[in-house]
Amino acid sequence: MLELIGVSKRYGEVEALARCTFQVRPGRLTGFVGPNGAGKTTAMRAVFGLVTPDEGAVRWRGGPVTATDRRRFGYMPEERGLYPRMRVLDQLVFLGRLSGLSAAAAAREATRWLDALGLADRANSRLDDLSHGNQQRVQLAAALVHAPDLLVLDEPFSGLDPIAMDAMSGLLGDIAHSGAGVLFSSHQLDIVEHLCEDVVVIEGGRVVLSGDLDAIRDAAADRYLEITVAGDAERLLHLTDAAVVAHDGKRVRLRIPRAVDPVTLLAGVGGDVVRLAYEPPTLSELFRAAVAGSALTTREVSGVAR
Ligand SMILES: Nc1ncnc2c1ncn2[C@@H]1O[C@H](COP(=O)(O)OP(=O)(O)OP(=O)(O)O)[C@@H](O)[C@H]1O
Ligand SMILES: [Mg+2]
Repeated sequence: MLELIGVSKRYGEVEALARCTFQVRPGRLTGFVGPNGAGKTTAMRAVFGLVTPDEGAVRWRGGPVTATDRRRFGYMPEERGLYPRMRVLDQLVFLGRLSGLSAAAAAREATRWLDALGLADRANSRLDDLSHGNQQRVQLAAALVHAPDLLVLDEPFSGLDPIAMDAMSGLLGDIAHSGAGVLFSSHQLDIVEHLCEDVVVIEGGRVVLSGDLDAIRDAAADRYLEITVAGDAERLLHLTDAAVVAHDGKRVRLRIPRAVDPVTLLAGVGGDVVRLAYEPPTLSELFRAAVAGSALTTREVSGVAR
């Protein structure tokens, strides 16, 4: 397990990380989300010793992270760090050898990953002859070539087409489920929600939510009630105890405190309900509430109630 424990990092006036604490558990996918400038890249760089924390510690399997440990980590940095003019296969072999693989093993693993990522026919191309998405795949192969125990990926989905996104999702799932810890940052909350068992939400250098996503959703103070009616949903916009978060004609999405019984709430709605969903917040709703610091409050509820 990887742990960041109270890690702080300041750049002049900017508190890039403020007592940042979270874990990346083996065998699970951990999604790292937060607005631009929240501190995701800084935290990831701290794992690789590229940022020295002002205070706090990064620990791997209960101890400080050593250079030997780091050779067993894979990193796909935000600034993609490959050699643009080198041939794809050559650089993967080179990186594999840097991580301690023999020449034969490095060549075998590099070829295997290029195959798995659909890049076998580009093995002898220069990196800068590849499209952005394919360069991204090579970068992923570079992080994977030595079968790391921990994989850290800074925005691996950015710039990928939908097919490549599916392939990347499947691959990250497979790697985690084969036992590695996987931490990746993304602004695509739907992907993170769909893919990850664990999440870390960071805002202004502070971790505002972390841990098992289902448990976080279940523990949320609010529930969401989505009601579609055959006629006009106007009358659903003024229910006591419910804040309207979205509505379009026949459909209304309401936020209600967990303590409010949806059956009681719906008693006065009438008979033309055609669809009903009652669920904990989505990751996107949790994110917005956490980042705005605006979990549902009693005042907010009574402000909507008439
Ligand atoms: N080397 C540096 N020197 C000065 N400020 C820095 C440095 N690195 C990061 N920062 C600042 O620290 C804060 C956190 O930046 P970081 O890159 O970690 O955010 P991020 O969550 O990765 O954002 P994004 O989603 O845009 O990639 C920002 O305000 C950034 O400007
Ligand atoms: Mg970043």
